[in-house]
Amino acid sequence: MTDTLAQALTATAAKVEAALDAFLPKGDGLEADLHAAMRYACLGGGKRMRPFLVMETARLFSVDEACALRVACAIEFVHCYSLVHDDLPAMDDDDLRRGRPTVHKAFDEATAILAGDALLTKAFEVLAHPLTHADPLVRSDLVLALALASGADGMVGGQQIDLAAEGESLDIGQITRLQRLKTGALIAFAAQSGAILGKAPAHVRHTLVAFAHDLGLAFQMADDLIDVEGSSVEVGKATGKDQARGKATFVSILGPERARAQAALLAEQAAKHLDLFDAKADNLRALARWTVARKS
Ligand code: IPE
Ligand code: IPE
Ligand code: MG
Ligand code: MG
Ligand code: MG
Repeated sequence: MTDTLAQALTATAAKVEAALDAFLPKGDGLEADLHAAMRYACLGGGKRMRPFLVMETARLFSVDEACALRVACAIEFVHCYSLVHDDLPAMDDDDLRRGRPTVHKAFDEATAILAGDALLTKAFEVLAHPLTHADPLVRSDLVLALALASGADGMVGGQQIDLAAEGESLDIGQITRLQRLKTGALIAFAAQSGAILGKAPAHVRHTLVAFAHDLGLAFQMADDLIDVEGSSVEVGKATGKDQARGKATFVSILGPERARAQAALLAEQAAKHLDLFDAKADNLRALARWTVARKS
């Protein structure tokens, strides 16, 4: 990772951590466990890659940082909810996440389900709030885009295909669709949110979506490679689990070498989409390259 990217990621992660903390409830009534589980799911870990995409694309259009930070928190809430539910026994049945016990292990299954539900809802509360943007049309555009990216035609649809495909042999086209929905859709929301906030013209927004499509596929390929090649101590989650559960991934059909080459190609292709922008997009270009080189 370049020093500039590392510094930018760290600085953004710190701002996001503080903002998430401020948004999350901290009650001591009968719902205290729900609040504690929401906080546990979101705080103190994660690469914050999706919030970084929001902040960096917002910067391209000189969007107010406080507004962008709210959108960054909204996407991280949806992402964290997706991880809490992904780890449940009914789904991937994982015990370790971000180097700690998963939410259903640290609390219980019911609390993990409810914490996920509440985080998803929180995301839309934050987006719809007038502080996110003065223009209600921009806010409703953000709500629409996040709803599409999160639901049956986005992340949730991808998760269902991921489960249905366990033990099945999918072809490249089917795996591409699975990963576009499961991982790519939320990444595409994050990358276009800066353009929505900045009221950029449609073709500019589409350029960022095209960037995100390649980035999202490369990102999930790297996740699948890490599952095969990483150690759980380094990665902070169990590894070797995709093969154990018969998951359909690019690595399972292409093998690690070809998957790595394909991921690198996609990262370059992603960066190429940013030719439209000047040096302000350098962090995004570097992010695309880091996405496939990362080890966790
Ligand atoms: C993990 O996402 C789940 C996938 C979509 C592959 P990240 O690798 O971004 O997880 P955190 O947020 O850094 O923990
Ligand atoms: C999870 O993909 C994607 C979502 C949570 C939407 P994975 O199941 O591969 O993620 P990890 O490897 O558990 O982080
Ligand atoms: Mg999964
Ligand atoms: Mg999983
Ligand atoms: Mg994985």
